Amino acid sequence: TKAKLWGGRFTGKTDPLMHEFNQSLKYDKRMHSADIRGSIAYAKALSRVGILTEGEREKLTDGLKAVGKEWEDGVFEVKEDDEDIHTANERRLTELIGSLGGKLHTGRSRNDQVATDMRLWLLDEVDDIEQGLSALLRVMVERADQEKDYLLPGYTHLQRGQPIRWSHLLLSHALSFRYDLERLQQLIPRISVLPLGCGALAGNPFAVDREFLAKELGFKSIAENSLWGVGDRDFIVEFLQWASLTMVHVSRMAEDLIIYSTAEFGFVTLSDAYSTGSSIMPQKKNPDSLELLRGKSGRIFGNMAGFLMTYKGLPSTYNKDLQEDKEPLFDAVDNVSASLKIAEGVIATLNVHPEKMLQALTMDVLATDLADYLVRKGIPFRETHHISGRAVALAETRKCQLNDLTLEDYKTLSDKFSEDIHQVFNFEASVERRESIGGTSKKMVERQIQVLRNVLANS
Ligand code: ARG
Repeated sequence: TKAKLWGGRFTGKTDPLMHEFNQSLKYDKRMHSADIRGSIAYAKALSRVGILTEGEREKLTDGLKAVGKEWEDGVFEVKEDDEDIHTANERRLTELIGSLGGKLHTGRSRNDQVATDMRLWLLDEVDDIEQGLSALLRVMVERADQEKDYLLPGYTHLQRGQPIRWSHLLLSHALSFRYDLERLQQLIPRISVLPLGCGALAGNPFAVDREFLAKELGFKSIAENSLWGVGDRDFIVEFLQWASLTMVHVSRMAEDLIIYSTAEFGFVTLSDAYSTGSSIMPQKKNPDSLELLRGKSGRIFGNMAGFLMTYKGLPSTYNKDLQEDKEPLFDAVDNVSASLKIAEGVIATLNVHPEKMLQALTMDVLATDLADYLVRKGIPFRETHHISGRAVALAETRKCQLNDLTLEDYKTLSDKFSEDIHQVFNFEASVERRESIGGTSKKMVERQIQVLRNVLANS
């Protein structure tokens, strides 16, 4: 008996540890349905060139569907010698329909088969991830729309800078996700390239119609070079790079919210659903969801860097190193999908405290506006910056706020100050002056919401 599909030229047995080392079924079994779909299409292509009769094709197809159903129902029995999803499915098919099962692999290699399966599998996942990302974006946009009136300090270097709308901050993160969505959609045509029909490396000698195969399987285009078709994993690298950047965005948003949820800031409180407690400190409510989102970004980046390292320097076409594409890809898909859902839940249930945000708005964040006031009276900005800085210093020595200084105080700094200076000390007025496109005024925040709603409606 030959247990291994490739056992013909072998007389010695595989070392048990080597068998275990080589076996990818434990993780690639998740591609079972892609593998069956690819095989059903390939059987059709074989029948069209006369390798299979119509009757044989039907029998093969029924057998493949039965194998697929065993996986769906969780009753597929893995045998010791099943190496990967491709050998496992073929072994089971042959058990079910007999030696006819052995005709399916005519002109096909696991090399074009695995590349096809991975692309099919990833296309489905990308679809799900796209929906997850859209859902997160939608929640952020709705939240931004409802909370436009909340003002808080905007920070640079984590130092208070200028007043902004809370929605403006939310939408800044949403804008990153908007481009992530666009980038993800742009990957699809390059994932959707058909390798099936490339054979082991040189192409298919039975004239299978690859245009037909592409159509059957829903691929947008066909690998134009068989060596490339079996050896290319750029689509995996690109996906991992996409995932890395998207998770960088998730981590940066998470970091803002972690900081804002400290007692020292108090701008937001995470809902209980996304927090955990401490085993020793009874008062603690920790933002674990956000910390995991921040932490996952490192892991995804690791998947990307790890696989890129494996991929570099490989000789042309298929090498077994390429089996190492799966675990990083699967791990990235799982963790990005989960992260997007968690982020959506965190944002949807976040408790926001506008009164705390307002408390953090000290008058010094209007120092730029103070300088701008003098600019409007004709003084060059470089000078007004200096004058406003001296006002800040004066308030600091007096241990008071900018609006506690008297008009006389201001007049000692510049004779251009007059009664209307009180207009400067108004946070709402400050944000409303930022009414150029991209600014934090209400109108411009509403514009962003409209732009993002359009993106969501058209994707
Ligand atoms: N399990 C293998 C992989 O994931 C399938 C391709 C095997 N091909 C081969 N020539 N050994 O890459």
